Amino acid sequence: MTKSEEFMEMEQRYGAHNYHPLPVVLNKGKGAFVWDVEGKRYFDFLSAYSAVNQGHCHPKIIKALCDQAQTLTLTSRAFYNDCLGPYEKYVTEYFGYDKVLPMNTGAEADETAMKLARRWGYRVKHIPENKAIIICCEGNFHGRTISIVSMSVDPDAYLDYGPFTPGFIKIPYNDTKALAEVLDKYGKDVAGFLVEPIQGEAGVYVPDDGYLKTCYDLCKKHNVLFIADEVQTGIARTGKMLACDYENVHPDILILGKAISGGVIPISAVLADDEIMLTIGPGEHGSTYGGFCLAGRVAVAALQVVKDEHLTEKAEKLGKIFRDEINKIKSPMIEKVRGKGLLNAVIIKPMNGKEAWDVCLKMRDLGLLAKPTHKHIIRFAPPLVITEDELREAIAIIKEAILSFE
Ligand SMILES: Cc1ncc(COP(=O)(O)O)c(C=O)c1O
Repeated sequence: MTKSEEFMEMEQRYGAHNYHPLPVVLNKGKGAFVWDVEGKRYFDFLSAYSAVNQGHCHPKIIKALCDQAQTLTLTSRAFYNDCLGPYEKYVTEYFGYDKVLPMNTGAEADETAMKLARRWGYRVKHIPENKAIIICCEGNFHGRTISIVSMSVDPDAYLDYGPFTPGFIKIPYNDTKALAEVLDKYGKDVAGFLVEPIQGEAGVYVPDDGYLKTCYDLCKKHNVLFIADEVQTGIARTGKMLACDYENVHPDILILGKAISGGVIPISAVLADDEIMLTIGPGEHGSTYGGFCLAGRVAVAALQVVKDEHLTEKAEKLGKIFRDEINKIKSPMIEKVRGKGLLNAVIIKPMNGKEAWDVCLKMRDLGLLAKPTHKHIIRFAPPLVITEDELREAIAIIKEAILSFE
């Protein structure tokens, strides 16, 4: 048995089978690259689902982590500490909000945003007790909790996890007419509209230009909170700091996760202004680790790297190159390329019984890691620190892999 096989077998034997990983066992990462236990190097074109925008083990983020880890890690929110306040000031000024509510995972941040929206709905908008509605979109992915899968239309996510949380109305994505109709009918009881500016997990679905702005305006018309889940799209990934920036939309509630720590520790954040945020009082929501000392220091370092290294501009420029070059590949297997910045997807048309999974295995053999999201879609999302030369080298691998099936 190889070393890799040994580790894979251990996960299979002792771990829950809630993932289906590509067969590769990693033990080192640096910038845009990861290495397997046998020492082979790969381009990482998943970036841990866009958590590692700043590249693997970024020295400035790791330094912040190590410095703080040797000083104080966790106090709980029962006491004040000297990391949280500076982080809260930094992150609220960075994104332009009055306040932040710090959490750990993306799903927790989405849950927090929904609680905030309901609270605001009852206490500010005066929706009758237990009537608050949150509108969400078909094809969404907001995480894995029971309330979140109650919004899902993907049987893998919700099947046999019922009974489900009430209070959601699902409408088609990228459909402003559907939103207008629901708001006309139920607007008085609607607290929030929750939307991903690009649906990442669904397969990098980019809505029409103007979609977000029209939705935002409709929300304003009906006194409804526009809630953006930028857990995957945020923090430079799509070529803007936030994907909502493409349409100059400033969400009422902004949900961030993943890259806010640069892939170092689980950190998420919900940002909003006082009218919304102050509807939650002491003891009414929280998490033991939410906003812990390490998180504060790491998040400031990770967000600073994004600015210092101009990752937004890089993502925009390199994303264009990626889409242009993939579009030049002449293969019946490539049905479509779509995305913004360095969040892209290629729709694979199965050929000779070979599917997206087989393409991913071939790319792995050639030194590039990516993973299908759903059966026929491969997401390509490298760390934003990748250089143009590296990107072109990676594109050559993708091309070779796809052409090998002809
Ligand atoms: C848009 C979006 N929201 C929320 C989540 C959930 O984040 P987490 O896995 O940290 O709970 C994800 C994860 O992929 C996501 O893409």
